[in-house]
Amino acid sequence: MNHFELSGGELACEDVPLTRIADAVGTPVYVYSSATLERHYTVLRDTLAGAGLKDSLIAYAVKANSNVAVLKTLGRLGAGADTVSEGEIRRALAAGIPPGRIVFSGVGKTTAEIAFALETGVAEINIESEPELDLVNATAQGLSRRAEIAIRVNPDVEAGGHAKISTGKAENKFGVSFDEAERLYAKAANLAGVRPVGVACHIGSQITDLAPMEAAFVKMRGLVERLRSEGHTVERLDLGGGLGVPYFNQPTPPEPDAYAAMIARVMRGLDIQFAFEPGRMIAANAGVLLARVLHVNERPEGRRFLVLDAAMNDLVRPAMYDAYHDIRPVKPRPGEPVVYDVVGPICETGDTFTRDRALPPLEAGDLVAFMSAGAYGASMSSEYNSRPLVPEVMVKGADFAVVRPRPTYEDMLAREQPAPWL
Ligand code: LLP
Repeated sequence: MNHFELSGGELACEDVPLTRIADAVGTPVYVYSSATLERHYTVLRDTLAGAGLKDSLIAYAVKANSNVAVLKTLGRLGAGADTVSEGEIRRALAAGIPPGRIVFSGVGKTTAEIAFALETGVAEINIESEPELDLVNATAQGLSRRAEIAIRVNPDVEAGGHAKISTGKAENKFGVSFDEAERLYAKAANLAGVRPVGVACHIGSQITDLAPMEAAFVKMRGLVERLRSEGHTVERLDLGGGLGVPYFNQPTPPEPDAYAAMIARVMRGLDIQFAFEPGRMIAANAGVLLARVLHVNERPEGRRFLVLDAAMNDLVRPAMYDAYHDIRPVKPRPGEPVVYDVVGPICETGDTFTRDRALPPLEAGDLVAFMSAGAYGASMSSEYNSRPLVPEVMVKGADFAVVRPRPTYEDMLAREQPAPWL
C-alpha cells in the first residue's frame, strides 16, 4: 500500500491532489508520502520482531533518498542510517539520528571521512579491504580512539537483477572473501585502534528471489560460528539491504514476512544483534516524480513522442539501468490507450523514459506521475543541461511542505566563480 490513489478522478498523495502540488511548486517535482515511509519502516520493524529478530538495528540506506525530511520521518520511528560518505553522515545527524545508530560503509572512505566518523562516534565502520582496515586503525590511533568495526564479506553469490547494481560476486569491488574475513578479524582483534564487533554483507539491490540471500546468509552464519569457535567476540551480524519492490509489470519481490521468516530459520539459535540496511523497500513506493506534458509530437513515420518537462537528470534510472517505472496520468482522460515513446527535453537519445508504452490518451499540459520513484530518484538527480535541481515535496495527511526548493538560476550561477584570468 502506498497512499498514491485516485480520489475524485485524480491522483492524490494521501489527502493532497497532485495537481495542487504541481500548481504551487511547478514541475518536475518529487512528491513523497510520509504515511508510506512510516508504514514501510514499521512493517519491516514489526515483521522482523514478530519473527523473533528483536532489537535489530534497521539502518536505512541514506543513498536511496537522502532528503533530511525523509531521514527525520524515519529517524523519529527509531531508524538508524547506513551511510557511505561524510555528506550522508552529516545528513543523518542533521535529521537527529543518533550516532549510535549510524553505520559507515563504502569501498573508498577517505582519511578525512574516517576521522569525521570517529569523532562523531558512529556505531560501526564497515571495513571493505585490508588497506582500509590499516587506514581506520591508524586514523583512530591518531585520534586516540578505538573504532568499532565490522568486516564486510563478499559472499560470492549471484543475486540476479541488473549487473550495475549487483554487488555480491567475487568479481565485484565490494568486501573480502570468507577466508580473508577470518584473517582480517583476527588481525583486527590485535590492533589498538579498532575493535571488531561483527561481520556484514550486502549482495545487491532490487533482489526479487530469496534464494541467493538465503545462500549468503547461511554462509554468514557459518562465518560467525567459526569466528566464535576461534575465540572471537562477534556481537553483530549486518545482513545488508537489497530486498526488491514491486515496480508494476516487473517480477514481484517476496513479502517482508517471507524475508523475515527465512532469516529467522537460517539464524535459529544464533544469539546476535542483527542489522539491516534497507533503502529501496522503504523509499521507492513512497515517492513519485510529477511531470507535465509539453508536447505530443506525432511523426509522419509513425512514432508518437510524449515530450515531458522531466528528463534523465531528474530521474536517471531508465537511462542508466533500463529501469521500468509505471507512468500514470494524474487526471486520466477517457478513451482507448495510445502508444507513446516518453522522452525528456535533454539533447541525447538516452533521455528516453520508455518506448512503445500504451498509456491513456494525453494532451499537452496534462500531468503524469512516475510511480515508485522515491528511491534512487532525487538522490541521483543532477543539473545536466543546466536544468535546476528538481525540487522535493513531503506530504502528510492534508498538508504538504517543500522540503527542497527548486534553485533559482541565480542560485545555480552563484555557485561558480570566474577564473582570475577570465
Ligand atoms: N547497503 C549497501 C552496502 C548498499 O550498497 C546498498 C545499495 C544498500 C545497503 C541499499 O540497498 P537497497 O535496499 O536499496 O536495495 N541506484 C541503483 C541502486 C544502487 C544500490 C546500491 N547499493 C538503482 O537505482 O537501482
